[in-house]
Amino acid sequence: MSFTAKIWDTEFPGVIYNSSGPRCTTLEELSSLWDSTSSAIMMKSCSPEPREGNPLPRYSEVELGSINSIGLANHGYKKYIEYAAELKKQFPNKPIVVSIVGFSHEDFIMLVTAFQNEENVDVLEVNLSCPNVVGKPQIAYDFEWSDELIAKLFAIPGDKPIGFKLPPYFDPIHTEMMAEVLRKYPVSFITCINSVGNTLIIDPETEQPLIAPKWWLGGLGWDYVKPIALANVRSFYKLLGDKVTIIWCGGIKSWVDVFEHLLAGASMVQLGTVLGKEGTDCFERIEKEFYTYMDKKWYTDIKQVIWKLQEL
Ligand code: DHB
Repeated sequence: MSFTAKIWDTEFPGVIYNSSGPRCTTLEELSSLWDSTSSAIMMKSCSPEPREGNPLPRYSEVELGSINSIGLANHGYKKYIEYAAELKKQFPNKPIVVSIVGFSHEDFIMLVTAFQNEENVDVLEVNLSCPNVVGKPQIAYDFEWSDELIAKLFAIPGDKPIGFKLPPYFDPIHTEMMAEVLRKYPVSFITCINSVGNTLIIDPETEQPLIAPKWWLGGLGWDYVKPIALANVRSFYKLLGDKVTIIWCGGIKSWVDVFEHLLAGASMVQLGTVLGKEGTDCFERIEKEFYTYMDKKWYTDIKQVIWKLQEL
């Protein structure tokens, strides 16, 4: 059976790993990802300076999913350079993916330059879609700003693959506009989708919202967002073909979600909320369930499933 993946020259031993979300901020959490069957170690989105993030409560779960407004709490990029060195020393065989986030073109340029020069990092995911910083819009909803930024990032010397974490798009015109931007550059992957931003969940018992920051608005994940993620994956594959690897993030809780997203065009998947809820055992559980189903269907290669949604 062949269930591996590649982003340019970086080989991933499987197709499932963690998203830049829960349980990937501290060195301890990152080390436990190595101990799991996650196919890579993705680090929490890091900014130029350390950040405390938003006030508590900033994360909550309900039956159909989660709402968060963490606000990019992280230890600052210098710490993640140290963590990457430590992780690579201990666990040389797992790709290390850094997620970077800034508040200006200069921030992003500085961070991409730093990580392009960092031998212990394999892949760069540039987060263009965090919905949780007060007063800062989700970058990838501004196509011109994104285009200018992406041009600058690809002008930086370096041979590490760069991809972008995108917000959900709700209108095909917007998906096309972003695809048009991406086509102009050697983008190696996109991660679809970030949480659905600025949503409100109310507890009818307490008659209060679930989270405090940003006037109680936060990013929605899990069951609520899966159909949105599926549509975005499918639309981007249709527009970009297999030149850009599509990584699905948003709403995975079992093998069936993985299977459906591969059918829609994803080549790899990232686990977020489920990792927060279940801990790192979720990788093995979902992988085993998925491989069992593939076996039942007589599939021996992941390529037999990717983009193979049957027409109606
Ligand atoms: C945060 C939220 C996101 O959706 C993301 O991609 C990165 C960080 C946050 O609030 O910390």
